[in-house]
Amino acid sequence: MKSVSFVSLLFLGLIAGVHGGYSYPPMPLVKFYTKECPEARGIVQSTVVAAIKKNVGSGAALWNLHYHDCFVRGCDGSILLDSSNYGPAEKESGVPDSPKEIAYDIIDEIKYAVETICPRTVSCADILTLAARDAIAELGGPEWKVCSGRLDGFISYANESKFYMPGPSADYQTLVQKFALKGLTEMDMVVLSGAHSIGKVKCSVIESSLYNSSGPCGVDPTLDPTYAMELKAQCPIGSSNLVFLTPPDTSVNGSSPVPYPGHRRLLATRSAGNVPSKRYYVQVSGKNRKKGKDAKSNQNLKVRNSKGTLRSDRNLMSTKSGKALVYREAGFSEKDLASAADKENQPFFHDLVKSMEKLSTLKDPSSPGGEVRCNCRSINL
Ligand code: HEM
Repeated sequence: MKSVSFVSLLFLGLIAGVHGGYSYPPMPLVKFYTKECPEARGIVQSTVVAAIKKNVGSGAALWNLHYHDCFVRGCDGSILLDSSNYGPAEKESGVPDSPKEIAYDIIDEIKYAVETICPRTVSCADILTLAARDAIAELGGPEWKVCSGRLDGFISYANESKFYMPGPSADYQTLVQKFALKGLTEMDMVVLSGAHSIGKVKCSVIESSLYNSSGPCGVDPTLDPTYAMELKAQCPIGSSNLVFLTPPDTSVNGSSPVPYPGHRRLLATRSAGNVPSKRYYVQVSGKNRKKGKDAKSNQNLKVRNSKGTLRSDRNLMSTKSGKALVYREAGFSEKDLASAADKENQPFFHDLVKSMEKLSTLKDPSSPGGEVRCNCRSINL
């Protein structure tokens, strides 16, 4: 934030509020940039597609970054800012070397291309929002309309991230509360957790669940013992490896995971653990879908045999309402939908669109205005 005082930020905020046409809640300016920079959306999409072709993990990284951005001061590109003299920025708040870090370079690449054609027109916040949407669609997930017109914020503090972002061991009540602080419902929380159907986590984040918990052999008692052994094999003590948040489905066609129907693009890039799907909920539930049996101890809401990789994922099964929502998203209660191939991921995809539209339009009315940054990593001087 350099030498900008709070009063000047407030003043800038008022100006931006008037000239940027940005109000709270945000206006649905879906076609914004059509005149100002008609190439922008195409550049975002083609860069995202190329990045995913090169590294399929780029999609998950963009999605995760977008969520982090929106949870702190609204979707204002604050996650993209580097640390300043005022202290560590939001991006420094998580685990070092998180897999999402590859997304910063993708945003820089898009920004550079867009700035070359339309200087100071398209905000970093809009670029990140559009890129996440395009990535999810590219990986076979649903699509939604992205309202444009976000402004880039001036403030990014790591301690705000620590306050607002739920941790990987958060219990159910904490998860609900943290989402409620953002105006998101319990259902939004469960639905958006389905983002963990793709992407990876560092072993260090889950190590205590594997080696230092109260169950047999130090394994967290909520974790499925067989799955825990698989995770231990991938994550020896002290390992810096990455593991899938939702492990690949090897039950179909031997060991080769099959892209399921309804996916439009890039079959080649749809590899295991990188396809948005309701399989996350099947894993988390610990329920055997084919036989329709609950894992034994789910009867008492004592979570056992969940294959949620994070403790927070498993904790979705720790309350009656959470469990019901997991079952709903897994499609267990939708008898008629389960057999229809083109509805394979319903109601999850339908619900995800609604929750992502809410997440991607979060705005913090108390934040002091915004600007269109030239460089997504620092505020304009
Ligand atoms: C419910 C609370 C949540 C918790 C506790 C949580 C926690 C985590 C953690 C610890 C990771 C590992 C990577 C890292 O440390 O950065 C991760 C990855 C990820 N999260 Fe979440 N998350 C939550 C909700 C969400 C939401 C709402 C979204 C998106 C809407 C999301 C999307 C992702 C994605 C896509 C990844 C994989 C990133 C990659 O592979 O690069 N998460 N999450």
